Amino acid sequence: MSDQQDPMTPARPEAARFDEQQNAWVLTRYRDVWAALREPCLWPVNGKREIQPDSREADGRLPQRGPMLEAIAGARIAEWQPRVEEITRDAISALPVGRAVDLLSEFTLPWGLSLAMLVSGADTRDRNRLSELGTRVFAATGAEKKDAALKADAAAATAELERRFEGGPIPMGEPAFVALSQTLPRLLANAWLALVRNPAEFAKLRAEPGLLPGAVDELLRYAGIVRRVYRRAAADVDLGTVRIAQGELATLMLASANRDPEAFSDPDRLDVTRSASHHVALGTGRNSCVGAMLIRMATSVATGALTARFAGVDFEGVGEWRTGSGFYFPGSVIVHLR
Ligand code: HEM
Repeated sequence: MSDQQDPMTPARPEAARFDEQQNAWVLTRYRDVWAALREPCLWPVNGKREIQPDSREADGRLPQRGPMLEAIAGARIAEWQPRVEEITRDAISALPVGRAVDLLSEFTLPWGLSLAMLVSGADTRDRNRLSELGTRVFAATGAEKKDAALKADAAAATAELERRFEGGPIPMGEPAFVALSQTLPRLLANAWLALVRNPAEFAKLRAEPGLLPGAVDELLRYAGIVRRVYRRAAADVDLGTVRIAQGELATLMLASANRDPEAFSDPDRLDVTRSASHHVALGTGRNSCVGAMLIRMATSVATGALTARFAGVDFEGVGEWRTGSGFYFPGSVIVHLR
């Protein structure tokens, strides 16, 4: 399969342009996307692509950002790491050899659920119910057509999760639980898909585990699942190569920026030895992902455990790609472990 046909390869970076159909500026070059993410007058939007000034600080920051970072970054990460290693070891050693395995349903999803239970301090007796609720919240994500019944069911499941996590140890407990138990498993599956399709890179990590956690940034750059995020201009904005007028919308193509040859040499090649920490797979600046440290730790632990346990992974196929939202991920990743 050539890179051009590869569904993992996003649109090529090009000069910023106004797309009449989307009624939005489309930014694909690394320098434009990076500048837009860092621009204080470009604000995140809600699902209707509108700015919500009431739910943000005056500078566009999320009010829960500080408390969330306190609850899930720094010392907390170090505290969770031994438990994450234990959860990961158990789950990796349960993976079978000698038959086809779906890395998503048989490893990354149950593993992500364990992680979400740990971080949110949930009662293990609630595991099945919480798993079901998380699955229902995520069911409509990435579907090509928005099914009204699916959306209503997702809203009901979201409301129940919000009630269950209200007053819990993490601010925004519901989105955090869903991100850890649903989004992170898709990211890891996509990252591992990249790795198993590049056996030489898998072998490098197995031979030299010290390449982790740097390799995690390369996996995020190459296989990050957030294709695009949106911004609306709260005032006229000059990004150097483009002027976005107050009120206009901009689509920031994170995945394209991460494959820009101006920022990453030979960008369509997965290279676990490259220095890629300036990627934008988790955003950058005041609205960047607050789960970034946790994601890096968990991805590093899991990838290290996979490459240590198995000499190689033979790629068999992927299920249908889900591309109907800003996310982009395969429905399954089928492999043979050896
Ligand atoms: C592995 C899966 C995840 C991916 C790929 C991801 C990706 C991202 C990206 C790209 C952004 C920036 C959005 C923008 O600039 O508009 C973001 C923001 C955010 N992420 Fe994540 N994220 C993940 C997991 C998590 C987790 C586990 C949490 C919490 C525990 C989390 C919490 C947040 C929050 C609260 C924001 C908004 C930050 C703000 O506006 O200040 N994410 N995420």
